[in-house]
Amino acid sequence: MNESNLQSVSVNNHKQDYFNFNANRKLMEQRPAISIIGLGYVGAVTSACFSKMGFSVIGVDTDKKKVKIINSGHSPIFEDGLESAIQSGVNNHTLSATDNILEAVLNSQITIISVGTPSDENGGCSLVYLVNVCKRIGLALRRKKDFHTVIFKSTVPPGTTEEKLLPIIEMYSQMKRGEDFGVCFNPEFLRESTALEDFNHPPLTLIGAIDKRSADVARNIFKDVDAEIHITNIAAAEFVKYIDNTWHATKVCFANEIGRLCQALNVDSHEVMDIFVKDTKLNISPYYLKPGFAFGGSCLPKDTRGIKHLAQSLQVDTPLINGLNGSNNAHIDHVVEMVIKSGNKKVGICGLTFKAGTDDMRESPNEELMHRLAEHGLHITFFDPLVNGHYRFHNDDKTNSAIHGKRSLNLNEFVEKSELIILAHDDEYSHLACQLATADHNIIDLVRVQPSSDCKAQYQGICW
Ligand SMILES: NC(=O)c1ccc[n+]([C@@H]2O[C@H](COP(=O)([O-])OP(=O)(O)OC[C@H]3O[C@@H](n4cnc5c(N)ncnc54)[C@H](O)[C@@H]3O)[C@@H](O)[C@H]2O)c1
Repeated sequence: MNESNLQSVSVNNHKQDYFNFNANRKLMEQRPAISIIGLGYVGAVTSACFSKMGFSVIGVDTDKKKVKIINSGHSPIFEDGLESAIQSGVNNHTLSATDNILEAVLNSQITIISVGTPSDENGGCSLVYLVNVCKRIGLALRRKKDFHTVIFKSTVPPGTTEEKLLPIIEMYSQMKRGEDFGVCFNPEFLRESTALEDFNHPPLTLIGAIDKRSADVARNIFKDVDAEIHITNIAAAEFVKYIDNTWHATKVCFANEIGRLCQALNVDSHEVMDIFVKDTKLNISPYYLKPGFAFGGSCLPKDTRGIKHLAQSLQVDTPLINGLNGSNNAHIDHVVEMVIKSGNKKVGICGLTFKAGTDDMRESPNEELMHRLAEHGLHITFFDPLVNGHYRFHNDDKTNSAIHGKRSLNLNEFVEKSELIILAHDDEYSHLACQLATADHNIIDLVRVQPSSDCKAQYQGICW
């Protein structure tokens, strides 16, 4: 680019800035001012993007160097498009930075917190930066008369915001959440290297809020972002972010283990995975992603054992795949523990085949559960009209017929015989069993039957 080209770019940019400035001034009059605490990868991008949307943004960082860089119209980090977004924000007077939290909070209606939450020495989530920021926000709010909303963005374990951070703000401000200030948790989904694009087009905007007023404040500032807004409680919003990252890590490790296996087998790993992701009915879909009971049946246990064996024979290390059956077993043990904890001795299992609507008993986790419970000396009855009298539970005739002796052919009788009913099939029998159960019954639901409100029994979900 020659010098005259350069000049025309800067004149055009200047013109653009001038028009933006006037347009922004109008927008800023309607929009709340936002302070953003922590100008790292998340905070710098969030500041630049909100300022581009016409909000008046005051960024805060204890790192004076970052503050100076931003105020001079530059980016403290490398991220595609960030430098020019910060530059236009600073030129349009919609973005400034400071190291003074008090000043920033007093001059804004909303504070977004995006300080780091690194691992502590035990691998837990360190809250040192957040605790420090909350104290300072509390002290600032103490001097504020107007209603202020605090939006947490930093990734934390569920419960952190409400149980550990808000008490600090309340103590230092002498104010009460909900009454004197609003609170939201808005997890950040941006990825470094595509951060601006991700900020403007996230998979969804998730807002955990303590009340409607707080939710409405957050909803309002995100209304121009191209994404569905989903409102939930704070703990769910906090945990979604942890789960997202755990899932992404699981996918990476899974794809890499498959890649190593493909390499050893001389199969094109990218072709295999390109085909794999084309199945959006079962593979890349919500299917199999709902908490419930252990997997079983004729295929999953056999084929996960098979792929583990294959990897061992090829001397390919596949710890994620190898761990699947152990994880499945732990889930069955979890139910055994729940039953033992109930103190009930007479246990009824409603549904024994590996899932409702089939008579297939191969590697049924419900049968496995029955045997493990029996080993604990509990008295077991099962009800499943599709388990016929010829099915062999055991090679030994005596044991086999003893297990058949646990079969109840009458649902009323089954319910009467049981102190605790395990719902193992989501079918009409489980729903009927819930209706027949009395206030003296306990119910453990493995398949999210969720009995209607007139069910009198004590209800527990396996993992909800
Ligand atoms: N980086 C990502 O891609 C990403 C994506 C989603 C979520 N997150 C989460 O967002 C949070 C921030 O991540 P990051 O990568 O931007 O962190 P970062 O370490 O890049 O930036 C944190 C900033 O906070 C500043 N800071 C610390 N204490 C402060 C205080 N008392 N007052 C003002 N500023 C203070 C630091 O100086 C630093 O500039 C973390 O919880 C992270 O897990 C990060």
